[in-house]
Amino acid sequence: MSSAASPGPLIGTCRVPGDKSVTQRALLLGAFADGRTHVRGALRAGDTRATADVVAALGAEIASSDGHPEGPAADGSEAASPAAADVVITGCPLPRSVERPLDCRNAGTAARLLLGLLAGRSGSWILDGDPSLRRRPMARVAQPLRSAGARIEGDLMPVTVTGARLAGVTHEVALPSAQVKSALLLSGLVAEGPTTVVQHVLTRDHTERMLPTFGVRLHQQPGVTTVFPGPLRGASVDVPGDPSAAAFVVVSTLLTPGSEVWVRDVGLWPRRTGFLRALERAGADVMVLRRDARDGAPQPADPRGDLRAAFAGRLKAFDIGPTDVPDLVDELPILALAAALADGTSRFGGLAELRLKESDRVATVAALLQELGVPVSVVGDELRITGVPVLTAAAAPDVSADHRLELTAAVAAQVCGRERPVGAAADVSFPGFGALLAGLRGTA
Ligand code: S3P
Repeated sequence: MSSAASPGPLIGTCRVPGDKSVTQRALLLGAFADGRTHVRGALRAGDTRATADVVAALGAEIASSDGHPEGPAADGSEAASPAAADVVITGCPLPRSVERPLDCRNAGTAARLLLGLLAGRSGSWILDGDPSLRRRPMARVAQPLRSAGARIEGDLMPVTVTGARLAGVTHEVALPSAQVKSALLLSGLVAEGPTTVVQHVLTRDHTERMLPTFGVRLHQQPGVTTVFPGPLRGASVDVPGDPSAAAFVVVSTLLTPGSEVWVRDVGLWPRRTGFLRALERAGADVMVLRRDARDGAPQPADPRGDLRAAFAGRLKAFDIGPTDVPDLVDELPILALAAALADGTSRFGGLAELRLKESDRVATVAALLQELGVPVSVVGDELRITGVPVLTAAAAPDVSADHRLELTAAVAAQVCGRERPVGAAADVSFPGFGALLAGLRGTA
């Protein structure tokens, strides 16, 4: 545990941990690939450690170059990337079974993508998770996989996958979920023909961006992706800072008077930067410096750059609708906190998927804000939040079941100038957040 509060502006430059979605995919694809995969700047946190342990149990060799997986957080000047490491994975033939269930712990992405990766391969495995993951729906992946021939027992963890011949099929996916789309595409690597996923809402596209790097043939049009069966070949993956982690630093800065912070080297994929667009619409002082634009280089497949945020008074109310949600799905809790200190009543609509995250985030965000003295109402899958002049500093909410709630509570404490240790739950995605804030405050 680290301390996350005392009054004072946040000033300086920092880096955030490597992107979780990219690291998870690099570990999983590397484990199923022929040859070696180098992952530079991999996130070392609870979720990625769970995935590393699972793929190691499936026979992959994983070596970390740093020997310091929980690296130190920012110190207010330019700091080394916290919780990042360079990792080399060597894929091995898949064992037909393993002694114990493959424990994905809190990692929903690992669980769902593994279902897709294993469904068409020879063997039988049990996937399991922690109490939170055991409550999260797996039918959204298992059902469409079954329609292609997969043998999957159970719609909640623990789930047994027994490899079967998969037909190449077209999946129409109504849910706005990148995990579902990714699992189905990955199942197609060993199907008997091309597998197509049609999704009417665009969702984060790391899988589509990464598969060609691993030698896989893809055909893409907006909302329609076809994967052609074939082997994965070891690749090099360079992981930028996680925009979802950066969002906590950016909002802390925007809500703390006198603050100005740069976050270096953040992934800027359009499907991940909806929170920046929402903050800009709310009048926030945020600036994006794209590295490719600055260097005059051609636009890279994985855009990245630096973010600058500065306190500029109160924000305007947010109006977020269902089509905005997939591009800021993990940032909803921290944007809700920003809305709690904005002028007027904010509306966040279309949050059905938020109820199925590590906690029911519609309920847990509402409960956290109420404890902070903020008027909140839940109308169906919509949150309405009326901004207050100041948060109630005395609140001590229990948010330990969900890393993004824990991080949001840490930002609330920072904004109130209140001592509150950042709980271990935050380590699922952002180890060292408390120390990073302390470094930017100059109280490290
Ligand atoms: C993720 C996709 C999102 C996100 C999750 C990671 C991914 O979930 O909430 O944290 O890596 O594909 P869904 O798009 O499935 O809702």
